[in-house]
Amino acid sequence: MTAVTTDAADGYEAVFDAAVAADERIEPRDWMPDAYRATLIRQMAQHAHSEIIGMQPEANWITRAPSLRRKAILIAKVQDEAGHGLYLYSAAETLGVSRDELLDKLHSGRQRYSSIFNYPTLTWADVGAIGWLVDGAAITNQVPLCRCSYGPYARAMVRVCKEESFHQRQGYELLLALSRGTPAQHEMAQDAVNRWWWPSLMMFGPPDDESAHSAQSMAWKIKRHSNDELRQRFVDICVPQAEALGLALPDPDLRWNEQRGHHDFGAIDWSEFQAVLKGNGPCNEQRLAQRRQAHEEGAWVREAATAYAEKHRHQPAAPDHPEAAQDQRSHVDRPTELQEATA
Ligand SMILES: [Fe+2]
Ligand SMILES: [Fe+2]
Repeated sequence: MTAVTTDAADGYEAVFDAAVAADERIEPRDWMPDAYRATLIRQMAQHAHSEIIGMQPEANWITRAPSLRRKAILIAKVQDEAGHGLYLYSAAETLGVSRDELLDKLHSGRQRYSSIFNYPTLTWADVGAIGWLVDGAAITNQVPLCRCSYGPYARAMVRVCKEESFHQRQGYELLLALSRGTPAQHEMAQDAVNRWWWPSLMMFGPPDDESAHSAQSMAWKIKRHSNDELRQRFVDICVPQAEALGLALPDPDLRWNEQRGHHDFGAIDWSEFQAVLKGNGPCNEQRLAQRRQAHEEGAWVREAATAYAEKHRHQPAAPDHPEAAQDQRSHVDRPTELQEATA
């Protein structure tokens, strides 16, 4: 019996391997190795957590945006990040975990979010620097994820990336306005870039030779490029953009290397990265406390939405009023969306 079971598993694994090799998508009902499933759950959960925690540093500036136009743009952007979280929690749920479980892990510190969001937003220019650099780094990381081997993750990324490119451009445009403004505004933009440049480079994760999960993720085609490759790509993109902005990147070692066809850049302070990752960043505690509070304050909405959905589930549609029946179905759908929005 054991031999038969092993053969069957081998058969499934061969089908999985062939699909990955042929660049086909793995879908939720397909057989997949346990470790592949676990890796995806961990990565998608961490990604989803980053999207919703990432709302906080910028939301901090909504009430103080300098014009109605800037305020409308910032509200739209922060709302987009909530949406990204929702796509990603939904994608993770296709692998058999519940959103409650994932949020519980975030709130209890058992799952991480991107360490970049543990830095404070000290001035209005930080909103620009986050858009240009943090969203810019996110795009560089996420565009290859549109070709990730796991279908639901890849498809979620297509829409996320479209929205991220809007985020990146609004940040660039904001910094350009400040850079060309008064000397004080220019200085504020430069200061923001000085503070966000190095943490943005850390967003690509540790160097390749120290990255624990990279090799296996690349073999499974979850990841398509190494951390160092993506980091280099980001630096090469940013250098001419910084020149166009009239802002300097805070790295005396940054220069074009003719031989490599890339920019060389200075050493990253990985001890800072590790400290922030371990919870010792400037805002770690504040971010998690605010997230837990938002979750608790949303409890009544989740309860009401569940009760509403439950009530309508037991009310059959009236057969002689097709329009009413249609209307009722749409009501049943709506609380689910509401639940997601407040989860
Ligand atoms: Fe996002
Ligand atoms: Fe974004």
